[in-house]
Amino acid sequence: MPKTINLAVLISGGGSTLQNLIDKIRSDSLHAHIKIVISSSAKAYGLKRAKQNSIPISLIEFADYKNTEEFSNTIVKEIEKHPIDLIILAGFLHLFKIPDKYIGKVMNIHPGLIPSFCGKGYYGNRVHRTVIESGVKVSGCTVHFVDNEYDRGPIIIQRTVPVLYDDTPDTLSERVFKEECIAYPDAIRLFAEGRLEIVGRRVRIVKPEETKQWIKQKDSNR
Ligand code: GRF
Repeated sequence: MPKTINLAVLISGGGSTLQNLIDKIRSDSLHAHIKIVISSSAKAYGLKRAKQNSIPISLIEFADYKNTEEFSNTIVKEIEKHPIDLIILAGFLHLFKIPDKYIGKVMNIHPGLIPSFCGKGYYGNRVHRTVIESGVKVSGCTVHFVDNEYDRGPIIIQRTVPVLYDDTPDTLSERVFKEECIAYPDAIRLFAEGRLEIVGRRVRIVKPEETKQWIKQKDSNR
């Protein structure tokens, strides 16, 4: 039986990624509990989705804080009220400065192939519009660990889709989102199984048969 892990999910808007995780948990294909949903906006539709699924919510709006540090510290304090194994950014539109102890414990999904078409201001359809205008023939999504820059930490999973000549940002977004719905749960499962090793800027996916040995080695290096 795979280990059930506890998640904190951070949102700012529609919560489509949150909904995907809720659905995967419901259908038993992801063994996780969402312990808290934190929103940076009172208007986020994702808050409704959380409420409909009886998930506790917390509102932490950027405008109420002096700077990114204060805002981030408040989020950390909220997270620490719960037994959380992994923090999931799901359409979270602010920089969340993470303390060192959270390195390797915060993931984000970006609707493009990092390191292209990413960084501050690249979210939602702006990513897809820029992808189409650039003429590239493939796009996709990236799940990565978060460091203290937008869309930059070590990459865990990328899934690709073709960019078609007739694409609009909406059609491309739809195609990419289907892959996001696979990639994020896959990355969370690998994390839960203890199979993600960060090696500098790279992530090694440890083979299932090597996991026990690797965890022993990791613990003895502490
Ligand atoms: C997803 O497409 C993801 O790639 C990006 O934000 C989108 C989800 O936004 N990080 P939302 O949850 O619908 O607000």
